[in-house]
Amino acid sequence: MTKPKLESSQRAARAAKRRFAGFPAMKQLSSQTYRDRIRSLYDGPAGSVLALASLVSLHMPLVGRMFKARKPDVSQVRSVLDIGSGAGQILGHLVKFVPADAVIVGCDLSHQMLCRARKRLRSPRPLYIAADMTHLPFAEAAFDLVTCGYVLEHLQDPMPGLREFHRVLKPGGKLFLLATEDTVPGLLTSRTWKCRTYSRAELEAACVEAGLPWRTQLWLTPVHRFFKLGGILFEAEKRAAAAVN
Ligand SMILES: C[S@@+](CC[C@H](N)C(=O)[O-])C[C@H]1O[C@@H](n2cnc3c(N)ncnc32)[C@H](O)[C@@H]1O
Repeated sequence: MTKPKLESSQRAARAAKRRFAGFPAMKQLSSQTYRDRIRSLYDGPAGSVLALASLVSLHMPLVGRMFKARKPDVSQVRSVLDIGSGAGQILGHLVKFVPADAVIVGCDLSHQMLCRARKRLRSPRPLYIAADMTHLPFAEAAFDLVTCGYVLEHLQDPMPGLREFHRVLKPGGKLFLLATEDTVPGLLTSRTWKCRTYSRAELEAACVEAGLPWRTQLWLTPVHRFFKLGGILFEAEKRAAAAVN
């Protein structure tokens, strides 16, 4: 008889978490108005401390360790698109680990963030393009790899973004994605960066619907795995078209 009580208290806790999670205006504003707000958030002072925040939270060095450990393996990549490049946190690792002749493109909604990334990385390699992840200015099947770190949470509905990632990936191409999870640290992040959070099940189902089934779930470190920190990290693959006989 105690089980239903427990379940209802769990449901209440989950509902309370959902109420607190995210930037409330995200659900009320039109997607264009929300996007404009996010662009000015990152263009402004908050964006100027993004690189430092990623360093202090250890995200930047720990994601670097993952690339070094080939999770994801980028050693054969010929073309890569980093979506929502921010201060170039992931771009910096790509410059270091993808083959020297691979094409690296960084795109972001915020022109200022792209300027900051270029200045910080001091590398002639990445091409920088201001673009919205739901309308990517690239041809179909243009990239072997798409990386996207803590950006998809800026969409109320992930599907338009995921469908674009799928469109620009080659069949068999990989997606390496990091997203804010609906844990307590995730909720705090969502308040700071005016975004939403995801549950693993919801995000995995959305990826399957977009044709990007997960191959592996990843963690920054075993400690992050144990305490469920660092968000949802996974590698997905665009299903290759079935062979025609
Ligand atoms: C938290 S930062 C992530 C930076 C970096 N990728 C990382 O791994 O730390 C989020 C970035 O996504 C960008 N962004 C937000 N909404 C976007 C959209 N609709 N299309 C493209 N970029 C977007 C922001 O301008 C910001 O630079």
